[in-house]
Amino acid sequence: MYKQSLMDIKKRAAITGVEAYLPDYILDNNELSKIVDTTDEWIMSRIGVRERKILKEDGLGTSFMGAQAVKLLLEKTGTKPEDVDMLLCATVTPDMLFPATANVICDKVGIENAWGYDINAGCSGFIFSFETAASFIETGRAKKIVLVTGERMSAITDYTDRATCPLFGDAAVAMLIEPTQDPNSGLFDSILHVDGVGRKYLYQKAGGSLYPATEETVKNREHFIIQDGQTVFKYAVSRMADVSVEIMEKNNISSEDIAYLVPHQANMRIIQATGKRMGLEKEKILINIEKFGNTAGTSIPLVLWEFKDRFKKGDILILSAFGAGFTWGSMYYKWAYDL
Ligand code: UT7
Repeated sequence: MYKQSLMDIKKRAAITGVEAYLPDYILDNNELSKIVDTTDEWIMSRIGVRERKILKEDGLGTSFMGAQAVKLLLEKTGTKPEDVDMLLCATVTPDMLFPATANVICDKVGIENAWGYDINAGCSGFIFSFETAASFIETGRAKKIVLVTGERMSAITDYTDRATCPLFGDAAVAMLIEPTQDPNSGLFDSILHVDGVGRKYLYQKAGGSLYPATEETVKNREHFIIQDGQTVFKYAVSRMADVSVEIMEKNNISSEDIAYLVPHQANMRIIQATGKRMGLEKEKILINIEKFGNTAGTSIPLVLWEFKDRFKKGDILILSAFGAGFTWGSMYYKWAYDL
């Protein structure tokens, strides 16, 4: 009889640890309504955010939050810095355009034998970087990858623009990604997309090579997030729902099979529309936007971190995001451990 050797069993990428860093300062809707013409009622009904954490201190950027999360992750998982092969950092708010924030985090936490880089995929930062990490794991080119998602969104948020400033918050999450040969856990499938049409509707205009910083760009507030909210909303609702249904159909997964939908936390209405199209009861849709706002690529990891005690080994999670670019996609993941 044919016996399957260990070599024949497919290696999958599994999340084996997840830790977060959240700044102390809380900016709630009450305080925001003193800065711009808005109300708690409008923000709660149109977006679903009540408060967000803000990294207030000068001289601290995304690498500070990322390094705090990585230190905690190494400690909690008993991982030695010298055993990490690779560190990826998904962010749209790097400390600076170069060098990569991944390098800075490695330096801050004493990871010296690794290589890595930053990934810019807007609010799809986690799903795009997890897919990247999974490719290195599945091919055996890396065994321990630290995946950091970190955003200091407050650094690029225009607090005179009431249409965007209620949305965003700051946070960082670090995950350990390792191979598993357990046939019932890890990353099973991903469907990811980009469409450059989105560059007109959600972007930071100045500060890159196309529009380098000048007195004019600063005066015109072009170093902040610019968003055509309604257009982004329409694309987000249809693309996130379509791709989530597509990954279910492709893998023969019914709504009963799914333990939880872990959606990007951009807007409560987008999350609910996605869950509805997937035929999910509301208990299966994980939401923490009320406390943290939209933390871009960090939002899915922040949900995984917050709800990890609920997950059981083998639970089917659908991870789904939509963001600047446009970028979007869904992942079919089976939780890899019991706490
Ligand atoms: O994470 C990456 C992807 N990003 C997203 O998915 C965000 C997608 N977009 C959205 O979530 C929504 O479009 C927003 C939350 C940004 C805006 O909600 P909306 O329902 O699309 O509002 P709107 O821009 O159409 O504005 C409706 C009204 C306007 O007033 P008038 O012209 O009808 O009199 C706005 O001036 O609401 C007004 N408004 C506000 N009123 C009170 C806009 N912002 C505010 C505010 N407080 N903060």
